[in-house]
Amino acid sequence: VDPSLDLVQEIQRLKKEKNAVILAHYYQDAEIQDLADYIGDSLGLSQQAAKTDADVIVFAGVHFMAETAKILSPSKKVLLPDLKAGCSLSDSCPPHLFAKFKEQYPDHLVITYVNCTAELKALSDIVCTSSNAVQIVESLPADQKIIFGPDRNLGDYVKKKTGRDLVLWNGACMVHEIFSREKIENLRAEYPGAKFIAHPECEEHILAEADYIGSTSGMLKYTIEDEASTYIVATESGILHQMQKSSPHKKFIPAPPNNACACNDCPHMKLNTLEKLYNCLKFDQPEIILPEDVINRAQKPIERMLEISA
Ligand code: 13P
Ligand code: SF4
Repeated sequence: VDPSLDLVQEIQRLKKEKNAVILAHYYQDAEIQDLADYIGDSLGLSQQAAKTDADVIVFAGVHFMAETAKILSPSKKVLLPDLKAGCSLSDSCPPHLFAKFKEQYPDHLVITYVNCTAELKALSDIVCTSSNAVQIVESLPADQKIIFGPDRNLGDYVKKKTGRDLVLWNGACMVHEIFSREKIENLRAEYPGAKFIAHPECEEHILAEADYIGSTSGMLKYTIEDEASTYIVATESGILHQMQKSSPHKKFIPAPPNNACACNDCPHMKLNTLEKLYNCLKFDQPEIILPEDVINRAQKPIERMLEISA
């Protein structure tokens, strides 16, 4: 890329020229969030992808999110700035192993967290996100047997909230399992009025400490509506940009990780850069291509989720 190019301006120009929309997740770098047409959590992003009238969707997020957009809008071109932007949680559940797991519970309904491959969605009955998992489980009859995957932490949280006995797949997100309860307690002692907020992908002993548990959008909303002046935030650090923008006078502290060398950045989310975003708009690739049968099979469980959450 020519270093004299104003990337932001060029991205805006190409977006108009190609009738493209940029959808960005809260974990993206601040400069990407700032030029997105829509920023949201996984549910909000899939709702936008389903209703957009743009010809091209540029997904500033990770692979499973772009796949979900493609499944919901198969006739549109869906671009992902870096195809290597995967997800450790999605990787923790290979579809062929999940298919075998599922065979052991033939009378169970399968709910999959959206952080999984299109193949896995195609093996499920309903998809969910962190913002509607409890609602979706509660929408089913009390005696309905359920398999929930791939995130065991979200699964445990849903079990606790609903009182249902879910069969869980043992998967997890590498970013949400790094937090140190002891260091969080120390921080709380240092900032006595601070609220501790956490994403439900965090481990149970971390969630036990939280004043609020919710999706990225839920956490952001909470910090806007709540009256505390300081928040300790247990999720990927990208969300702090919107929190700080919405509440400039409040203080936001990333929850400390166990290991001093670790940080709260998702290495997959952070693969996207302005330069890659520019290139993908300019050259119409990398593009998400999915087999038609996978699109057809994965569509129903995602649409079921959207209907329940409408
Ligand atoms: P939400 O934004 O839906 O809460 O998802 C968090 C996440 O880990 C996405 O990868
Ligand atoms: Fe996957 Fe975790 Fe990164 Fe989200 S934060 S994309 S769940 S690895």
